[in-house]
Amino acid sequence: MTTSQSVRDSTGLSRRGFIAAGAGALAATLPAARAAPAPEGPAKLASPVRLGVIGTGGRGTYLMTVALGLEDVEVTALCDINAANLARAVETARAARGTKPAAVTGGPFAYRDLLKRDDVDAVIVTTPMQLHAPMSVDAMRAGKHVLSEVAAAMTLDECWALVAAAEETGRTYMLAENCCYWKPILTIAQMLRAGLFGDCTFAECGYVHDCRSIQFAADGSLTWRGEMNRDARGNLYPTHSLGPVAQWLGINRGDRLAELVAMDTKQASLEFYARRRFGADHAAAATKFAVGDSTTTLIRTARGACIDLRYDTCSARPHPSTTYYALQGVTASYDSRLDGIWIDGRSKEYAWERFGAYAGEFEPPLWKTWGEAARTAGHEGGDFFVIREFIDALLEGRPAPIDAADAAAWSSIIPLSAASLRARNAPQEIPDFTRGRWETRSA
Ligand SMILES: NC(=O)c1ccc[n+]([C@@H]2O[C@H](COP(=O)([O-])OP(=O)(O)OC[C@H]3O[C@@H](n4cnc5c(N)ncnc54)[C@H](O)[C@@H]3O)[C@@H](O)[C@H]2O)c1
Repeated sequence: MTTSQSVRDSTGLSRRGFIAAGAGALAATLPAARAAPAPEGPAKLASPVRLGVIGTGGRGTYLMTVALGLEDVEVTALCDINAANLARAVETARAARGTKPAAVTGGPFAYRDLLKRDDVDAVIVTTPMQLHAPMSVDAMRAGKHVLSEVAAAMTLDECWALVAAAEETGRTYMLAENCCYWKPILTIAQMLRAGLFGDCTFAECGYVHDCRSIQFAADGSLTWRGEMNRDARGNLYPTHSLGPVAQWLGINRGDRLAELVAMDTKQASLEFYARRRFGADHAAAATKFAVGDSTTTLIRTARGACIDLRYDTCSARPHPSTTYYALQGVTASYDSRLDGIWIDGRSKEYAWERFGAYAGEFEPPLWKTWGEAARTAGHEGGDFFVIREFIDALLEGRPAPIDAADAAAWSSIIPLSAASLRARNAPQEIPDFTRGRWETRSA
């Protein structure tokens, strides 16, 4: 799926070192008290939007390709610490448009040279997850708009730093949560708007994706994903599953995530996999991973709904889809694993109906407009929409549809599920990243 690369490669500075070295800048952005909102709303950018990409591995190069397909975007600069990945992305851009973007490289902080460029309006951050928040905060503080890959942040301090940077700079920050744009997800949103579900009480969702092979490089060393699963317990990748459900439930727009408890299984599958792939005598087989095979987090919202959220990237199982979603309202029920829906007063019997039967009637407006262009893009069209929506927010001067408060709330599950596990499944309060505006926010 991707090329993994350690930040240690060219500089000798580990990711922990990166975070520590950048911590001064980040700490300076933490809100000591309530931060003042930016004086004016986002200004409209002129077309074309000039994009930079930080991290040109598998994901960054792909999202750049999607962006290059839009006529109101120019890709002006790319940055990576890995020369081969950078050269490949520069060549991909040249092949698409005939001109080469600037190539910025060097140590782990070379991206700050890209941020100084005045031919870059906005950046896409597609580095390993542990670097998203510090890079996004730096980018906003340097005056750039940000589209960040998921998850947004790894710690609560980073979550707050993102919110503060977006508020204080007035830059647009969007989380590139592509699952929020899948057609069935947006179709359910249309049904919710039409009132078919009534009051919603319960949702179930999960990211259950056998990712064992990409924890290890060919020589048995750990990729950044492997390092994360070695070092941390908890739900380490919550947004693909939680994001769509949070939007259905109006989280940060009428409701909010209030508290959670987490419980995990023991670790067995990654360690079994390492022994089988590399041999019992290989150093990889001695790696101890902190992450459990499967982690379940239960979240309660302020308005009394519950979300059952599962994370499992270790267990061996084929999967038709990497995520699943279910929603229970007073008058309807949806379950993606059954591809089924039942709607009180509409379904002829008290039995599941095929979800596709409603696809035409509740076709999402975004898909009506962009369906043709989106259909061939990755992740069931989601990759097209995260770029399109980010660019349109900049061109139209409207708020990002998945903003810093949303990104922070969804990503806070990473540190808070870990905190619950450390405290023997004790409840953890989820901060209100809207600073009290969740009941009245509409955009
Ligand atoms: N939304 C999705 O469906 C989806 C799919 C895949 C990956 N992702 C996310 O995208 C991100 C990237 O994943 P990937 O699979 O492309 O990983 P990858 O390892 O292939 O690419 C990461 C790139 O970042 C570069 N990098 C590392 N440190 C850097 C630094 N300090 N400065 C500049 N470049 C640096 C690496 O050299 C590498 O080229 C991850 O956060 C991942 O979670 C999201």
